[in-house]
Amino acid sequence: MFHTRVIVAKNPEQVGKFTADKFEEEIQRKPSCVIGLATGSTPLPLYRELIAREKAGLIDFSKVRSANLDEYKGLAPTHEQSYRKFMQDNLLDHISIKPENTIVPLGLAEDVDAMCKAYEEKIEEWGGVDLQLLGIGHDGHIGFNEPDDNFPTMTHEVKLTEMTINANKRFFNSVDEVPKAAFTMGIGTIMSAKKIVMMVTGADKKEILKKTFWGPVDPKVPASILQFHPDVTLICDEDAYPF
Ligand code: GLP
Repeated sequence: MFHTRVIVAKNPEQVGKFTADKFEEEIQRKPSCVIGLATGSTPLPLYRELIAREKAGLIDFSKVRSANLDEYKGLAPTHEQSYRKFMQDNLLDHISIKPENTIVPLGLAEDVDAMCKAYEEKIEEWGGVDLQLLGIGHDGHIGFNEPDDNFPTMTHEVKLTEMTINANKRFFNSVDEVPKAAFTMGIGTIMSAKKIVMMVTGADKKEILKKTFWGPVDPKVPASILQFHPDVTLICDEDAYPF
């Protein structure tokens, strides 16, 4: 562990509130900031809190831009299980952010290389991500960057591991319906963010959390690269904290 700040909260709701503080602070500092967003169950308390804070007049999303980490390959933006739909339902439809200021990789892209390149260029045109939110998979994946022999750099297509397909099948009717591939920001894209905040909750994440920040930096644990980022805040609950 090098630069990482660690905040241990009581429970997932409090993790959501502490993470919301980081977003509130960033948006106050720079109203047109670029935020990197994530899907999964872990960020839900954060998204509820952000919606409530805008309603209470504490945050204004009208100038904010957002870029999501990843999307399933082959799912339309309107598909019930697409990450675009998840973001609309759980955050974007309930805040004042402008639709044209939100991007998610396009699941139906025909020219994958061109879509991935355009995704990187858009983030660059916006001046880069100011604050990137991350969750973590049980195998240490961030976005959909799965354990590998090296750290993939830019937005690209990935084959999902069996562990990830099984972990995500709870959202689909059957395991066969879970897409086998996805598009994700690369480790390089994520590491280019100026600040990163990672949310981790639940005892089932304890082991991977320990490997990530208190083990060697290893592409077999993709999130371990975060030890080399100069501004990471880990916000976890007592159940996930390994000590
Ligand atoms: C998916 C997403 C990740 C997320 C992970 C963990 O695989 N691509 O970005 O971090 O799930 O999800 P959860 O928060 O539901 O455990």
